[in-house]
Amino acid sequence: MLPNPSGARLTSVLSARRSHAAFHTSASRRAAGDRMTGTLPSYGPVGVARALDASSATGTNPTLFAKEFSLADRVALVSGGNRGIGLEMALALVEAGTRIVYCLDLPEKPGDEFTKVREYASHLKGTGGEARLEYVSADVTNQNAMWKIGKTIGDREGRMDVCVAAAGILRGDTPCLTYPAKQFEEVIAVNVNGVLYTAQAAGQQMDRFGNGGSIIMIASISGHGANQGHPWVSYNTSKSAVLQMARSMACELGPKRIRVNTISPGYINTSMTGQFLAKRPELVEVWSSHNPLGRIGRPDELRGIVAWLASDSSSFCTGSDILVSGGHHAW
Ligand SMILES: NC(=O)c1ccc[n+]([C@@H]2O[C@H](COP(=O)([O-])OP(=O)(O)OC[C@H]3O[C@@H](n4cnc5c(N)ncnc54)[C@H](O)[C@@H]3O)[C@@H](O)[C@H]2O)c1
Repeated sequence: MLPNPSGARLTSVLSARRSHAAFHTSASRRAAGDRMTGTLPSYGPVGVARALDASSATGTNPTLFAKEFSLADRVALVSGGNRGIGLEMALALVEAGTRIVYCLDLPEKPGDEFTKVREYASHLKGTGGEARLEYVSADVTNQNAMWKIGKTIGDREGRMDVCVAAAGILRGDTPCLTYPAKQFEEVIAVNVNGVLYTAQAAGQQMDRFGNGGSIIMIASISGHGANQGHPWVSYNTSKSAVLQMARSMACELGPKRIRVNTISPGYINTSMTGQFLAKRPELVEVWSSHNPLGRIGRPDELRGIVAWLASDSSSFCTGSDILVSGGHHAW
């Protein structure tokens, strides 16, 4: 029998339709799968899914700390990294494996504390004597300069994964009804604009390299409620703005797998609170009485939360605020 050209055409049309349908089915299955699981990390499924995945060659090594919390090979930018909470977080990121943490702060040269911590970080087991903290003199209120710093880091490292916007200022007690415009603007410039420019500097690079990323902004309990007994209208306003900035950016950047969250510490023992305690030592009792744990916090008590937010272990967390306040908010 001679081949029927029109029949042949029909067969090829039908098979094309079938493969088209098959393509659509597998594509929509894949899309549905992605919606169920997100993008799995390179080390595959974890937890119960890993335990049940008999076909995988995943082995039986625990993954929680070795993989999910690990920041191995990640690159980070931390503002306010010369001291206090920023420096504490930078070191925590190094300990979690970060390849390098760029610490941005105002002074031209880093302080003694930073230099000692950098030295310590370079001798941590597994770091091979390499400096994993790098200091960059920068003013977070300068948008152009911040973008350039971000780009330079991106060009040099070929990636950007973590951003901690910790630079912030708190000006002395000033009554709200006569609060001077200049001082108000100064606080907003660092605590709001500066946080945005820092997030932009890192976020643009996260977007450029397409690996997603984690932006962590340091807000405060002062963004949730006014600090009893302190006329801090500019600071309180700025920290509320940071909470909303993070939610807003999280919504825009979710499709790029760039997560944006805030940490709201309570009273923490740093230079910022120290300037008040130096003048009014009785405040330590007052502040301690404002939370159920009955004390103020240490900067190192924020290490775990920053490591968690920076890492894959918080991969479904964005647009959230984590309060670390000794329970200040619970009363
Ligand atoms: N200490 C607390 O009790 C507490 C509580 C809640 C939130 N926070 C927030 O934590 C963050 C860190 O505060 P800290 O307690 O470590 O205070 P800190 O004063 O020790 O550190 C702040 C750092 O930001 C830097 N900085 C200020 N202006 C800058 C600018 N324009 N450009 C670059 N860097 C600049 C400072 O030089 C300093 O190193 C701040 O955002 C602060 O508002 C602190």
